[in-house]
Amino acid sequence: MTTTGWLSGDVAFITGGGSGIGKAVALRFLQEGAAGVAVLGRSLDKLASVTEDAGSLGDRVLALEGDVRSASDLAAAVDATIARFGKLDVAVPNAGIWDFQRSIHGSTPAEIETIYDELFDINVKGYLLTASTTWPALVESGGNIVMTLSNAAFYAAGGGPVYTAAKHATRGLVTQLAYELAPKVRVNGVAIGGLRTDLRGPKTAGLGGRSIEHSFAKRDGDRGPNMWIPLHQASTDPVDSTGPYVLLASRRNASVVTGSIINADGGMGVRGFATAAGGDAL
Ligand SMILES: NC(=O)c1ccc[n+]([C@@H]2O[C@H](COP(=O)([O-])OP(=O)(O)OC[C@H]3O[C@@H](n4cnc5c(N)ncnc54)[C@H](O)[C@@H]3O)[C@@H](O)[C@H]2O)c1
Repeated sequence: MTTTGWLSGDVAFITGGGSGIGKAVALRFLQEGAAGVAVLGRSLDKLASVTEDAGSLGDRVLALEGDVRSASDLAAAVDATIARFGKLDVAVPNAGIWDFQRSIHGSTPAEIETIYDELFDINVKGYLLTASTTWPALVESGGNIVMTLSNAAFYAAGGGPVYTAAKHATRGLVTQLAYELAPKVRVNGVAIGGLRTDLRGPKTAGLGGRSIEHSFAKRDGDRGPNMWIPLHQASTDPVDSTGPYVLLASRRNASVVTGSIINADGGMGVRGFATAAGGDAL
């Protein structure tokens, strides 16, 4: 692996780092010179793949089993990260699940209750607890937090009401925590969208068995891949969405940026009415 150094010597802690965008960010941070990357997740098998894929930099990966809904799991994981690497520079609250776009009219109140409890616990409480357990170490290092948000943090139809509300809530966390932790710790977010990952639904609602991958064909329909976003050619491989995380995490390149969110979703915010992209004839 060649390193380019935007995060030279930094240590990162990434929740849900065993697959999808979390894993891609972990590997990219190593490429950027990170001295250590701790990945927390529920499955040691998934986490082992990060060490494997890091190749010669595998000794810089620390795999930590834990659940982001548990303050004590997170505290133990952060302690282990600091014990191993000596400090913490970047925290990436990222572990999450999806509601498979269960609409309000397609769900019973009891189903909404079940989806809400599990999804908000992971996607919102998990982010807040990750910030709550990492901020003292980040104050010490003058570090930062980069949260994984979503197109659903801004727009409708990227999820059902539960997922969309949860992602809007994490926008609130970026704003409030950027205020509370300034001037010591910067807090920003990346609103990714439409990536082929292992993203699953709440197990308690029977939605844990399949991933978001199954929903791509439905969305593309007969118009072709990605015709629903302005940048039709945008990559759905999480590897290609890691750049904004590097930028926001980098002291050298983003020292004046806090409370900001980079929309990295292929331009969903500029979709037109008749067609997603106005320049298809160009
Ligand atoms: N895939 C997309 O299209 C997309 C779009 C926008 C936002 N996101 C967000 O990206 C983030 C990462 O998702 P992804 O798409 O990479 O899916 P993913 O399933 O590959 O990654 C999420 C990881 O979090 C882990 N996880 C789930 N619950 C956990 C818990 N309670 N404790 C610890 N780890 C847990 C999972 O095991 C998994 O490894 C999520 O917050 C998701 O909402 C994804």
